[in-house]
Amino acid sequence: MNKPLRIALTKGRLEKDTVGLLEKLGYDCTAVREKGRKLILPVPDGNLEVVLAKANDVITYVEHGVCDMGVVGKDTIMEMQGTFFELVDLGFGRCRFALAAKKGSPFYGGYKVKTVATKYPTITRNYFESKGMDVDIVKIEGSVELAPLLELADGIVDIVETGTTLKENGLEVIEDIVPVSARLIVNTVSMKLRQAEIENLVALIEKNI
Ligand code: PRP
Repeated sequence: MNKPLRIALTKGRLEKDTVGLLEKLGYDCTAVREKGRKLILPVPDGNLEVVLAKANDVITYVEHGVCDMGVVGKDTIMEMQGTFFELVDLGFGRCRFALAAKKGSPFYGGYKVKTVATKYPTITRNYFESKGMDVDIVKIEGSVELAPLLELADGIVDIVETGTTLKENGLEVIEDIVPVSARLIVNTVSMKLRQAEIENLVALIEKNI
């Protein structure tokens, strides 16, 4: 048998959904479910090896070819870009990018250049460039909703899933930007060298989502 195909999963919720999907395909994911602090886990009956990583690192490992495939959100793909194939929309991890601001605040009012806080400066820059609008972008590492509350920013560009975080902090969506969901990505060389195995797995996944 070939060496296992290595698949990098984004730790957390996407990891759980992906393990659920692999089990639906009939693979025994006991080692992943009982992983403790281990980061590389076998899924022997699928001839897979699961690597658990942060979203940005999933892309780095797949781009460098040390992982053949990865599961990562479209948000991270749009922000990091990079060279790999994006093969399947897995349908889970659904949310959206939105521009939000304090409830009732006229984000588009006035002549002053607006300040926008975000964990995703590339997506934010592209979005406002496409509108021909000049904004100052401030990079924040987490809980971006704080920035308008602390009056560091006029608005935020962030992921909205249920909308609860915005609501509980007195913010509201001004505009939806783009929908987001988990994607299966594949290293370009792996796609050539292990085409049959990858295509079989993709076909199985497509049948089960
Ligand atoms: C994400 C996002 C929002 C929140 C949206 O944050 O940045 O803060 O989830 O979810 P909701 O619409 O269901 O309330 P995450 O939980 O990843 O934490 P972080 O902001 O600290 O990175």
